[in-house]
Amino acid sequence: MRYIRRFDVRNLNAGTVMIVNTTDLFKHAYGKYALAAYNINNLEQVMGLFRGNVESQAPFMIQISKGARAYTDKRMLEAMIRTAEEIFPEAVFAVHLDHGDEETCYDCIDSGFYSSVMIDASHESFDENVAITKRVVDKAHAKGLVVEAELGMLGGVEEHVSVDESDAKLTNPAEAEAFVQRTGCDSLACAIGTSHGAFKFAGSQGLHFDVIREIQKRLPGFPLVMHGSSSVPQDEVERINAAGGQLKGAKGVNEEEYLPAAKMGVTKINIDTDGRLVWCRVHREHFRDHPENFDLRPPGKIFMAEYAKYIAHKNQKVGSAGQLPEVRKALSA
Ligand code: G3H
Ligand code: 13P
Ligand code: ZN
Repeated sequence: MRYIRRFDVRNLNAGTVMIVNTTDLFKHAYGKYALAAYNINNLEQVMGLFRGNVESQAPFMIQISKGARAYTDKRMLEAMIRTAEEIFPEAVFAVHLDHGDEETCYDCIDSGFYSSVMIDASHESFDENVAITKRVVDKAHAKGLVVEAELGMLGGVEEHVSVDESDAKLTNPAEAEAFVQRTGCDSLACAIGTSHGAFKFAGSQGLHFDVIREIQKRLPGFPLVMHGSSSVPQDEVERINAAGGQLKGAKGVNEEEYLPAAKMGVTKINIDTDGRLVWCRVHREHFRDHPENFDLRPPGKIFMAEYAKYIAHKNQKVGSAGQLPEVRKALSA
């Protein structure tokens, strides 16, 4: 594998840090801890995100989805990140397109702003997924970007489904090996029992460590990605419901499973829903407790502080907290 550093990290020791190459972050993390990959949509999230990561001394990944690019304007997100980088010069992070289609991948590759893109053609047949992913890999590598691809079907693994049926939705380790060889992708999102959103499991299921272990055996040293990793904290759900929400039966991944998965090669852990829950709880509670208020700044301020706290907590759980000094050293070597 060839590692290309796309962004200049010359001034690392002087305290100025640029957006870095995703593979450089993966190299440092692999087998020891995972990088948390957080989705952003707005200004308050960006502020809380940088604060939480710097306070917990963690390298991290910023994820931008197609929906986020359309929410305001894709240029707005770039501008917010560039400004946050100036406000928090200590931060070390990569910028990643989350769940891209081919067209959006090319737009991000051409923009010169992103460190990496995800091409998600997992809904296609194996051969079509290979063909699409390969096209994106060729274009991305030519410009020094790295590519995450996806194989398997995330979500919907219910307890009432028989083992055979649920296994069929998980990533097949032999296929994963062939897929990586044929596409040349740099990391692979695997279906290992999780799903997106706040309602992940019908019962007490956990991650399929047997599948992760088998994939790692076939792809040693190759970074795996876990989507749908929010833990949907029950105290958060209860507070939301107590303030008028209706999130009955919401359930997520056990946070204590992040680190064991990271030790088996899960190098990037995608978290979005948990941050949305923080936003929802803060705003519901604020307006319940202050019905006279109509100003956006008081809850916004609480949200930024709570979001930073939540980010620092997650970084402890994935093991990235405290890694910043070592990462800076490795990047400047
Ligand atoms: O996996 C999807 C992420 O949570 C992004 O969600 O497409 O609603 O921005 P979004
Ligand atoms: P959650 O919905 O579990 O936060 O997953 C987010 C994700 O996978 C983004 O790509
Ligand atoms: Zn995802």
